[in-house]
Amino acid sequence: MNTLDKDIKDLKVLISEEEIQKKLVELALDIEKEFNTDEEIYVICVLKGSVMFCADLVKHFKKNIQMEFIRISSYGHETKSTNNLQAIDLTLPNLEGKNVLIVEDIIDTGLTARFLTDLFKIKHYPKKLGFVSLLNKKCARQVDIEPDFYGFEVDDKFVVGYGLDYKGYFRNLPYIGYFPC
Ligand code: IMP
Repeated sequence: MNTLDKDIKDLKVLISEEEIQKKLVELALDIEKEFNTDEEIYVICVLKGSVMFCADLVKHFKKNIQMEFIRISSYGHETKSTNNLQAIDLTLPNLEGKNVLIVEDIIDTGLTARFLTDLFKIKHYPKKLGFVSLLNKKCARQVDIEPDFYGFEVDDKFVVGYGLDYKGYFRNLPYIGYFPC
């Protein structure tokens, strides 16, 4: 039996698949320009939410990259950030002196971004650290942090799709959507 309290039929498209794919090309160009080096970039995919974004973004990079995956959870089954960060897997290789790009799905309160940025600086000593987020919910910010790159600014509404979930659902959608109240 399906116990999900939201129905995909009610979902409204906020950012279409075409808009996302077009934006990825621009973002990849901007990022490669900023990482002005022949050295490889270590792309850190923050699971689970950035799985789609990261996988599609790296297809546009012309430089050599390495992909690493870490897993953080902050929402549980709520639609508001719980301010309760859980670092589930932060296993990484030695990144000292490397070019590192953290890839996030959305910056909401900014707590995850702050945690990750501090962690990488304090623990990994990268030569260069960049942070890219597909979405930026500027109006929900609780800490003063901005990504180096982002795709789209969104209002303070709960969004799903393209990796972002509600209770584990809707990650598979190729677009970003929301449930109108
Ligand atoms: P922050 O720490 O509050 O900035 O939240 C970061 C994480 O919360 C993101 O990586 C997402 O996984 C999750 N999140 C924030 N806003 C949304 C949303 O609108 N939909 C789904 N997940 C979200």
